[in-house]
Amino acid sequence: MHAIKGVTLAIDQGEFVAIIGPSGSGKSTLLNIIGTLEAPTGGVYRLGGQEVAALRDRDLSRLRATQIGFVFQNFNLIDHLSVFENVKLGLRFRHDGLVNTRERVIAAMDKVGIAHRADHLPRHLSGGQQQRCAIARAIVGNPALVLADEPTGNLDSKSANQIINILEDLNRHGTTVIIVTHAMGQADRASRIVEMHDGAVHLSSRRLP
Ligand SMILES: Nc1ncnc2c1ncn2[C@@H]1O[C@H](COP(=O)(O)OP(=O)(O)O)[C@@H](O)[C@H]1O
Ligand SMILES: [Mg+2]
Repeated sequence: MHAIKGVTLAIDQGEFVAIIGPSGSGKSTLLNIIGTLEAPTGGVYRLGGQEVAALRDRDLSRLRATQIGFVFQNFNLIDHLSVFENVKLGLRFRHDGLVNTRERVIAAMDKVGIAHRADHLPRHLSGGQQQRCAIARAIVGNPALVLADEPTGNLDSKSANQIINILEDLNRHGTTVIIVTHAMGQADRASRIVEMHDGAVHLSSRRLP
């Protein structure tokens, strides 16, 4: 039994892709492989031309920490850390002599409109604010690729719209964005829709700009 099988897909830098499909169709598995969180049991996955399976653990960790930002449906924030500290965690695996950590964290919080909540704990925030905090954590290291697995699944429609606006804005500034979503209204804003069915890509269609 395979979670996904026979998937052939190439995503270009700068794309905004929406992955849709019924529950259990393999969307999260595909996204996790793209994000190098899971390794495929067969086939080849290349990220930026690099065959991921050929990378040493250290290089893979570095690639993940510097190039990829993750956003999850349930935010995955650390309860006992403030917004500022949560966002700062997005820089924790970077050993490339990062300077101006504080400025970077503030800039990321500003970008998603959460800077005024910097000292608050996640539980004192609304769901939408928590997800914006999670996005700030994902983008604080300025990754080339942002992956979001049903990022608005737990949010009301107004907050959901804010989240999609932020992701759209990131993409407009050059970040490759891939989201999994059930909401057709969101998928419609992507430049490509990838539809999964029973572990396979059923349809991959580019949209006119
Ligand atoms: N590592 C795995 N190996 C085999 N099957 C898996 C694995 N991970 C998930 N599955 C199964 O594969 C299917 C697709 O899962 P998933 O990618 O989570 O789908 P979706 O995100 O579209 O709901 C599900 O039936 C799930 O139980
Ligand atoms: Mg899923």
